[in-house]
Amino acid sequence: MEKSTVIKLIRPRLSQSEIQAVNQVLETGMLVSGPVVQRFENSLAEYLGVKHVICVSSGTAALHLSLLAAGIKPQDEVIVPAFTFPATANVVENVGAVPIFVDCGLDGLNLDVNDIERHIGPQTRAIMPVHGLGFPADMDIINDIAAKYNLTVIEDAACALGSRYKNRLCGTIGDIGAFSFHPRKLLTTGEGGAIVVKDEITASLVKSLRNHGYDDGDYRYAGYNYRMTDFQAAMGLSQLDSYAEYLEERKKLAHELALLLGRFHWLEVIKPEIGTEPNCQTFVVRLAEDIDRKSLLNFLASRNIEATIGTYCVPMTHYYRVRYGYRAEEFPKSYDSYNRLVSLPLYHGMKPIEMVIIFEALKDFTIEMVKELV
Ligand SMILES: Cc1ncc(COP(=O)(O)O)c(C=O)c1O
Repeated sequence: MEKSTVIKLIRPRLSQSEIQAVNQVLETGMLVSGPVVQRFENSLAEYLGVKHVICVSSGTAALHLSLLAAGIKPQDEVIVPAFTFPATANVVENVGAVPIFVDCGLDGLNLDVNDIERHIGPQTRAIMPVHGLGFPADMDIINDIAAKYNLTVIEDAACALGSRYKNRLCGTIGDIGAFSFHPRKLLTTGEGGAIVVKDEITASLVKSLRNHGYDDGDYRYAGYNYRMTDFQAAMGLSQLDSYAEYLEERKKLAHELALLLGRFHWLEVIKPEIGTEPNCQTFVVRLAEDIDRKSLLNFLASRNIEATIGTYCVPMTHYYRVRYGYRAEEFPKSYDSYNRLVSLPLYHGMKPIEMVIIFEALKDFTIEMVKELV
């Protein structure tokens, strides 16, 4: 391997099949509103074991339409995890509702299900659990709480296509599920997303809202252009074909990398909760408290190894801090995860030598740390 080659965080799993599939669509000239989006939706529905899947232009669009489909209105409150990508909360703001942030639980990734109920008030309408970095949230308890207070459950499964909770596929367990097909996700259409809904009426509403509010010969809502193109759908279809095999490959790669990195006492490889089977979307480790993450990320970058944070403590991002005056002490576990998690490379076709390069870099970082101590 050449010294200058970058070990990427993730590489989109694209081959000649995707290129051919996209080319075929381009040759037809039917770039949008053709038959391929529908075929991708049908295949996703089959893979997920559900009836209704609607493809849209991004995961954020999927979440936005999920909230509208759930009838979330200005001043309503929606429970969201503090530890997530900002889009989860932004869509709540964008419909004029209020995101109510809940800290993560002991896993440091997902909603603390023991802390949800005290945040429920007369304005609460929905819970939006996120399957953080592909690790399933505790859906049974979340669904029970939602049933008790008559709330809609919208799963943010942006990172979780193929993740399983008690053998059920994430995104199909709540009332509505939303997926992202951004290039950092395991199945990518460049940009793109999908919504899973349970009934025909909601499916029609979502289809109409993604297409300017058009339905049955008229414009019935002030809708959006959230359509997916047919060439994106062709890419997605092609990857979905061998998606199950890809998840198996990732599981094996993640296991091998975990074995190697388990030798470092100053980092902990995040493991799945019992009864869950993450899709290994992100290979994530938690650093010991005394490790300077910035130094580690810089050190890895100097070795041409891409690494980044896990995700954000959203109430502590500028917009939410200024608007609601949140303090880090209110979300101690999310803030801690924001500061101590690191995502490391894991991608299709990753070679043993690439894992060894990561291992060697971490070993050299350990030596540097020891040198600083003496
Ligand atoms: C948890 C979560 N929700 C929503 C999104 C938004 O998805 P998209 O980038 O496709 O709009 C992301 C994207 O990374 C995400 O990680």
